[in-house]
Order: sequence, then C-alpha cells, then structure tokens
Amino acid sequence: MTTDKTMLRVLAGETLETPPIWMMRQAGRYLPEYKATRAQAGDFLSLCYNPELAAEVTLQPIRRYGFDAAILFADILLVPQALGADVWFVTGEGPRLSTITSADDFGKLGPVADIDETLSPIYETIKILKSELPAETTLIGFAGAPWTVATYMIAGRGTPDQGPAHALMMENPAVFDALIDRITEATIHYLSAQISAGAEVVKLFDSWAGSLSGEAFLKYSLAPAKRIISALKAKHPNTPIIAFPRGGGDLNIGFAKATGADCIAIDQFTDADWAAKHVQCDGPVQGNLAPGHMVTGGQALVDEVKRIKKAFANGPHIFNLGHGITPDADPDNVQRMIDALRD
Ligand code: CP3
Repeated sequence: MTTDKTMLRVLAGETLETPPIWMMRQAGRYLPEYKATRAQAGDFLSLCYNPELAAEVTLQPIRRYGFDAAILFADILLVPQALGADVWFVTGEGPRLSTITSADDFGKLGPVADIDETLSPIYETIKILKSELPAETTLIGFAGAPWTVATYMIAGRGTPDQGPAHALMMENPAVFDALIDRITEATIHYLSAQISAGAEVVKLFDSWAGSLSGEAFLKYSLAPAKRIISALKAKHPNTPIIAFPRGGGDLNIGFAKATGADCIAIDQFTDADWAAKHVQCDGPVQGNLAPGHMVTGGQALVDEVKRIKKAFANGPHIFNLGHGITPDADPDNVQRMIDALRD
C-alpha cells in the first residue's frame, strides 16, 4: 500500500520520526465552535444524527489544529439505541438508558438486521467527510466494545465500578451472554457499514475493560474483540483496526496477536517504556499522554510529550492521549502538545 497518510503508514508498521497525532474526544466541549454547533443542533443526540452538523464538528479540530486523523463524530451508545434501548443524555450528568436486568428486558431488544434504520445518518456523515477532509487526513470510524456497551445497557448509566453488569454476569449468565452476543453482532454490522461508507480505520473502545480480570477479561473483552476483528478482516482485509482495552495493564501483552488488532491504544496509567517493551514489540501502539495535561499545560506538558515520543521512538507509534480530553481543557494546550511533538 502506498499512501501519504502518516496514520495509515504507521498502522502498516512503519516507524516515523514524527509520529502522527490525533486526540480522543478531539471534537468536544473544550472547543467553543463545538459548543456553538451543538447549540444549533439542539442537543447531543440530535447532533450525532445530523450528518451535516456531525461532519462539521468532526472537521473543526482538523481545521484548528491539522491533526493527522479525524474521528467520526458519533457515540458508542447509538448502538444500544439502534437495538431498541431508550437513550438520553442529562446535561451535566451523562447518559441514561432503559435498563436490562432480566430475560424480559432483553427480549424487548430488536434484531441486528434493523439497526441501520437508526444508524444510516452515521454512514451519511462518513460520506460527507470523505469529500471534505484534506487528502492527508485519515478518517477513523468507531464503536464501543461489547463489554463496555453492555455496562451502560445493564445499569442504564455510567457506573464507577460497573457493578450492575458484574452482578448480571454472576446472577443471570444466560441473559448476560445473550446481550454480549447481540452487541457483538451489531458491532460487526455497524463497523462493516462504516468501512463500506468510507472509514479508513476503525477503533473499538473497551473503556471499562479494566474492571474485568482473569477468565472474565478473556471471555468478555478479548474474545468479543477477536470475533469482531476476524469478521471485519474477512470482509475488509485492508482496513486497520485499533483496539483500546483501557485499564488492561498487563493484559495488553499479546492482545494484538490474540485478537488480530493492528494497533493497541495505551491508557495513561500504563508506563510508556513498559508498553514499548511489552506491547509495541508486537506492532503499532497509540498513546498515551494523560489528558490532565490539556488542562494544566506548562513545561510539564512539553516534557511529557517528549518523554512519550522518545519511549516509543523505536517502533510504530501514533501519538494520542491516554483517554478523552475533558471539557475544562485549554485549547491552547492542545496546540502546545502538537508543537512539542512536531518540534
Ligand atoms: O471526538 C471524538 O472522540 C469522537 C466522538 C466520540 C464521542 N464519544 C462524543 C461525545 C467518541 C469516540 C465517543 C466514545 C464514547 N462515548 C466512549 C468511549 C470512549 C471513552 O471516553 O471512554 C464512551 C464510554 C461514551 C459514552 C458517553 N458519551 C459518555 C459516558 C458521555 C458523557 C460524558 C461526557 O463527556 O459528557 C458521552 C457524551 C459525549 N460523547 C460527548 C461527546 C462530545 C459530550 C456530550 C455533549 O456535547 O454534551
């Protein structure tokens, strides 16, 4: 594959002197232009389902900073909504969903075959972006991993320890497994449609992988990722896939080989030198600046960017944060991060 897109070159295994950079949640509330477009859309979900405005907010951080990749503007909770769950967002609090705690609740979900009735605007957003993005910018599609999506569908909200999902796993494994299975199938369909619409890379966010351990990690984080990735590779062999088993720690070792992922995104709690030795040895990695530096800035930000760049300099690396940028971040610190990296 010959390409000028630095992100795709790194995902194909190249080591670049200046790694490509993008940022989790790069379209978001820290940007005044995002807030203005969201106000125009009415609310967050209306923004996700409005292809013109969703494409606009995807492009905003590209225009402002010239990131090497754009991530589709959407949310991991659109899949539950497409499967028939009620989903809404409470301002200042976060997502709320109808809960799944019994076979009856599970039985109310719709089939995977129907999800495009809800999700087709997302594919429209991708098509708009394909014609509007600069030639050197890579377009990333995404979905939540089954475990992470299930934690929200079971509890009906974000939870500090994913307690309700762990409880269902113990008390009603048949319903829990059926839910993981349904989300897995929906995710294969959804990501495959994103790729067909023009996504050049897809990322699987397992934001709560860190609360699984031992057998449960293998069964509910690793195995669904492997199933999703092998189904996607069968249909779209040339589309790179990034896995993000956030909080996985030691379990990041061998995760790429075991799942078929082309790249592992590393969170900020994982030491970069350790990750270079134990994870990057198997292929490309992405990460892992602590998002707090986008709030605090200063010399510590510059030093950290340089430390991380150096730690990963001997292999393929995509620079990113260890998790999403927060709404209280200073947009100038994002520019400082980019300058320090490209310096
Ligand atoms: O710029 C991008 O990264 C692309 C868009 C994107 C959003 N959510 C937009 C969003 C992506 C990739 C996500 C992923 C997502 N959504 C995850 C996985 C990544 C992670 O952060 O761990 C999760 C767990 C969600 C679920 C979700 N969506 C929560 C818990 C919240 C509320 C917390 C918050 O920040 O408000 C959201 C809302 C959300 N998703 C916002 C954005 C820009 C903020 C909504 C707003 O504008 O008010």
